[in-house]
Amino acid sequence: MTTVRKERIGFIGTGIMGSPMACNLLRAGYQVTVYNRTKAKAQQALNAGAVWADSPAKAAQETNVTITCLPDTPDVEAVLLGSGGVLESATEGCLCIDMSTISPAATRRMGETLAKEGVQLLDAPVSGGQKGAIEAKLSIMIGGPAESVERVRPILQTIGRTITHCGPLGSGQMTKLANQVMVIHTIMSIAEGLAFAEKAGLDLETTLAATVAGAAGSHSLKVLGPRIIAGDMKPAFMVDLQLKDLRLVMEYSRQINQPLPGAALAEQLLRTLSAQGRGRDGTQALVDVIRGLGGGRVQV
Ligand SMILES: NC(=O)c1ccc[n+]([C@@H]2O[C@H](COP(=O)([O-])OP(=O)(O)OC[C@H]3O[C@@H](n4cnc5c(N)ncnc54)[C@H](OP(=O)(O)O)[C@@H]3O)[C@@H](O)[C@H]2O)c1
Repeated sequence: MTTVRKERIGFIGTGIMGSPMACNLLRAGYQVTVYNRTKAKAQQALNAGAVWADSPAKAAQETNVTITCLPDTPDVEAVLLGSGGVLESATEGCLCIDMSTISPAATRRMGETLAKEGVQLLDAPVSGGQKGAIEAKLSIMIGGPAESVERVRPILQTIGRTITHCGPLGSGQMTKLANQVMVIHTIMSIAEGLAFAEKAGLDLETTLAATVAGAAGSHSLKVLGPRIIAGDMKPAFMVDLQLKDLRLVMEYSRQINQPLPGAALAEQLLRTLSAQGRGRDGTQALVDVIRGLGGGRVQV
């Protein structure tokens, strides 16, 4: 039997990640009110028992916790602070948990603005992809005061498996950027490895079975390898969102004077896809850029 929990949650942004996250909250017994720019993308959560709100302000009304899972910094700023935004209806003592991947500096600035109205912001970006969101196995990286993190831990435990308090507000986002540097290298390595195997005339299913079980094995290889072999470029994580993350990484790497040559190369190759109109493909489409460097896909 599902326990009915007392915390009412507003959830804004029911896309690839937000939709399964909202569904997992509902499954855990929370009462969830959802808002998304395109209502159709909230349908799965509505079918699972969520209530629809016509604006972020309405989604946050009469809830004590509001979660956002939006593409980029301007989206979170508009939803939290803009006209019809969360701040218009949030009351003192409310908590906002931003689970998008956005700028750490903008996160801190928004936190200050919200705090003036008695509303607290926590940054809690996630890693683990669409599969992790569906299976409630995300790694959640939180920034904010320890007591607030403890207050929301039971909520986050219903959508993630590993919840790490990374430090003050903004440090969840900074940790996530470090994660994205590592992730893009993994995806690059998969694209190069499989393009190489294909051009060498190897059977890709056999190559994948052998490599996934060895030192090259990873979550990304398990998820993206079969998609590459099937020619399935549907996004679990869009090229344009990965580019957004690398833009944030590069901005900060310049500020702290830490060169990141591998991430810079990956950014250029992803930009190639975006320039070709493939920004909404999944990041596994990088394999096509690598194939192109070798003269295109070989017919085996
Ligand atoms: N996908 C992944 O594997 C993954 C993994 C970890 C972290 N993330 C991060 O999680 C965040 C969401 O990613 P995603 O893949 O779920 O993206 P997504 O599928 O594009 O979902 C974002 C949702 O936010 C909605 N939205 C945008 N602006 C809005 C606004 N002003 N008001 C209300 N709704 C708005 C979009 O509405 P529309 O339907 O109208 O476009 C969309 O449904 C990003 O910051 C991403 O970097 C993604």
